[in-house]
Amino acid sequence: MEKVSLKTDTLKKEIISIFKKYGLSNQHALISAKALINAELVGAYGHGLSRIRMYCDRISKKVINPKPQFKIKKISQSITHIDANNSIGFVAADIAIKRSILNAKKTGIGMVAVKNSGHYGLSGYYAEQAVKKNLISMIYTNAPPAVAPFGSIKSLFGTNPICFGSPTGSKVPFILDTSISMINRGKIRVAARNNQKIPQGVALDKFGKPTTDAKKALEGVQLPIAGFRGSGLAWMVDILSGVLTGGNHSGKVKDPFDDFTGPQNIGHLFITFKTNLFVKDFNSRIKKNLKIIKRLPKIKGVKEIMYPGENKFKRFKMNSKKDIKISNIIKKDLEILKQ
Ligand SMILES: NC(=O)c1ccc[n+]([C@@H]2O[C@H](COP(=O)([O-])OP(=O)(O)OC[C@H]3O[C@@H](n4cnc5c(N)ncnc54)[C@H](O)[C@@H]3O)[C@@H](O)[C@H]2O)c1
Repeated sequence: MEKVSLKTDTLKKEIISIFKKYGLSNQHALISAKALINAELVGAYGHGLSRIRMYCDRISKKVINPKPQFKIKKISQSITHIDANNSIGFVAADIAIKRSILNAKKTGIGMVAVKNSGHYGLSGYYAEQAVKKNLISMIYTNAPPAVAPFGSIKSLFGTNPICFGSPTGSKVPFILDTSISMINRGKIRVAARNNQKIPQGVALDKFGKPTTDAKKALEGVQLPIAGFRGSGLAWMVDILSGVLTGGNHSGKVKDPFDDFTGPQNIGHLFITFKTNLFVKDFNSRIKKNLKIIKRLPKIKGVKEIMYPGENKFKRFKMNSKKDIKISNIIKKDLEILKQ
């Protein structure tokens, strides 16, 4: 696949000007551009620029509101409920994580529920913001149907990521940020666009047969991690981010690429809390915890036992030093959107 190299700043300016052309304010365009660039830099291409055309199409078709009026309801010093008025998800999530951090700094724990939002990209991106303020975070969002509940042949759960972030006493945060499906749906979309195969054992076609054809997988069902356990975790995320928040749930979140009949009304839940609620020496305790685990004897061929988030941190640092490489397909998307 042919790639084009672009300076990060040039790309950021291009994205900002595209979003502004589609009606976002300068600040909202900047928030969205930063989130998309971050996804490219950590190598989460399925949540990066491969989606920009989709966001702009949804704005054009009036199912993302480019000028949202956020309703921010204070429920207590710790708890906030946000109605995002169908904004682009990045902006709703940015407001929510910042509010959750403020609440936690004031009271020890912050909890922010969001409804009427859209796809916000990578949960870990928001967990990193909390870690930088020395807070632990737990973040949930639901997503359009992709995974069949255990025992069913119909997709209903999204790939519903589960995210947990924690300071580590070092520069490299612990960020467990994982979808509950064997493979991220974004990766399947990228494979389908580039005519690439997907791995065995991650999806079934619409007839329930295992497939490595990305297009057939998108029409069929994705498999959850660990059978009924993964299905249960997806269900938990649907309850926490959909049922609890006032967002859509039980398969009602619309697919952002294929369904323009209305807004997605995705729900998110952000929980952040201080590390010193129960012990005064969290930093030294977590350092010890990581040290013990990282020093365990390794399987042959494994150089290092990594904790979640280490791989993405390294990738981000390495990629930040270089130009961003985008495929010709994405370059074409940007050119069309700029016209
Ligand atoms: N907004 C949405 O609707 C949505 C839906 C699904 C996924 N996502 C996002 O997509 C991103 C990718 O999800 P994914 O499930 O493909 O992630 P992944 O499989 O790449 O990684 C999952 C987790 O495992 C960790 N990990 C990976 N390799 C490791 C190793 N060798 N040792 C230790 N830990 C390791 C990672 O740091 C990460 O925390 C996430 O950021 C997620 O939030 C978003």
